[in-house]
Amino acid sequence: MKTYEELLKNVKTLAIVCYQWGDTGKGKFVDLFADWADIIARGTGGANAGHTIVLNGKEYIFHLVPSGILRDGDGKINIIGNGVALDPRVVREELSILKKEKKSFSHLMIAYNAKLVLPQHIVLDRVKESDLKSGKLGTTGRGIGPVYTDHYARCGLIVNDMLNPDIFRRKLIKNLKDKVKLLRTYDRELVKEVMEHEHLSRGLFYDPDEIFNVDAIVDKYMEYGKYFQYFIEDTDRFLNMHKGEKRILLEGAQGLLLSIDKGSYPYVTSSDSSAQGLARGVGLYDGDIDMTLGIVKAPYMTRVGAGPFPTEIGGQSSEEWCSRSDVTKDSEKEQVPWADVNSEDEFGQGVGIRIAGGEYGATTGRPRRTGWLDLPLMRYAIRDAGPDVILTKLDVLNQCRKIKICTHYSYQGPDYYLGKAKIRKGSRIDVAIPIGEVLAHCKPVYKIFPGWLSDIGEVKKFTDVPKKLLHILDYVSAEIGARLKILSVGADRTKTIFV
Ligand code: IMP
Ligand code: MG
Repeated sequence: MKTYEELLKNVKTLAIVCYQWGDTGKGKFVDLFADWADIIARGTGGANAGHTIVLNGKEYIFHLVPSGILRDGDGKINIIGNGVALDPRVVREELSILKKEKKSFSHLMIAYNAKLVLPQHIVLDRVKESDLKSGKLGTTGRGIGPVYTDHYARCGLIVNDMLNPDIFRRKLIKNLKDKVKLLRTYDRELVKEVMEHEHLSRGLFYDPDEIFNVDAIVDKYMEYGKYFQYFIEDTDRFLNMHKGEKRILLEGAQGLLLSIDKGSYPYVTSSDSSAQGLARGVGLYDGDIDMTLGIVKAPYMTRVGAGPFPTEIGGQSSEEWCSRSDVTKDSEKEQVPWADVNSEDEFGQGVGIRIAGGEYGATTGRPRRTGWLDLPLMRYAIRDAGPDVILTKLDVLNQCRKIKICTHYSYQGPDYYLGKAKIRKGSRIDVAIPIGEVLAHCKPVYKIFPGWLSDIGEVKKFTDVPKKLLHILDYVSAEIGARLKILSVGADRTKTIFV
């Protein structure tokens, strides 16, 4: 049987990124390839990410600590790179869980120049999201947008500032100035309520007059500084010293379609979650990557939060339903009793697939919107980061009788000028154009395949994959120019088929 050793024969630096809107199962593969790697590094995103790993039947969800951390005991080095928005509260919590489980993390390194998440970032993120009744982005409320905004506005703080009290205080006060001004334009009660959120130490940083209690923030972050000092390093230098020599695994967060530079703007996150952004976020450049494995959920896919999703099953009603706060993993079965992967009613089918796939946010618990595999988006992703893909969650549709694959779009919006080209009603689009206004008017055209109707979770070898599924896989790979490398047919490491 093939293993990763064969796949990675000539590879020293491997990147694992998602080709969709996140939540495709990167955690499982980072954990798996951590066996191979000497160093595992994250370079983008922050606590908005949720990476789920199942090890010996136990589930771990990490938001900031790299998914290779469970291999720390074997001497593997895990790195949180410079491009990450680091919330020290979250990292400390994750480390304390590891400690409780008696898992070591002594080889963890944190970039001294990672972007520091401060209370004001979380407040701004949450206040903006609750205030904007329309045009809401559905962020995870982790302060991500405001942190990166500050970085580019040249007023952000870095992790290392936690080690230098005077510099920290000076930069903090400067950073808070315009934030306080802005927050005064919002409803006072709303701001107060947000500041009492558990992620903001339940009001610890609130001051009724100044909004922020500077001393409280300084004290807390100095405490974090003491805790983290041992882990803080020049990780860019470290990785540059070891590239080409040690086995480096770069762990993506979110997905290409959520990248600030390449995703379905403006419905994106605020870091560049592409392979290039990942390399940059650990101090390398993309030419240092020997192989990029793109993770693709198939033959259904998901998206959390707002924004266009052409193949969404149940369309608008699904989007609205998934933005409701009373829809949860525990409630949905009862709320939609007719939900089923084979439901004739599209909405019910979308819910059925969500339930079958356990598609609820690892960070927010929100129901993820479900849709069919979208080849125009995959062609776009492959053009960006290359043809080597891992297909995941194939087992979820074991019992689905009809599988729909979106082969191309028919544009249905008003005339749209793209440079010299004019996209008009009825225009055929084969490679997705990642512009929110265009994507929102793309109607999917489907090809329908019969389902394989057997439990592929039990399949161990590629030669045992059912014919009907093989037919779908051949079609998809040929259409998008993909090289299938691995099929994932269950959450556990053992449920992995090398092609
Ligand atoms: P933010 O990253 O919290 O600012 O959220 C911006 C958008 O990205 C929202 O639609 C989120 O739902 C989405 N998002 C952020 N992180 C993830 C993730 O890890 N998986 C899926 N969606 C995400
Ligand atoms: Mg996730």
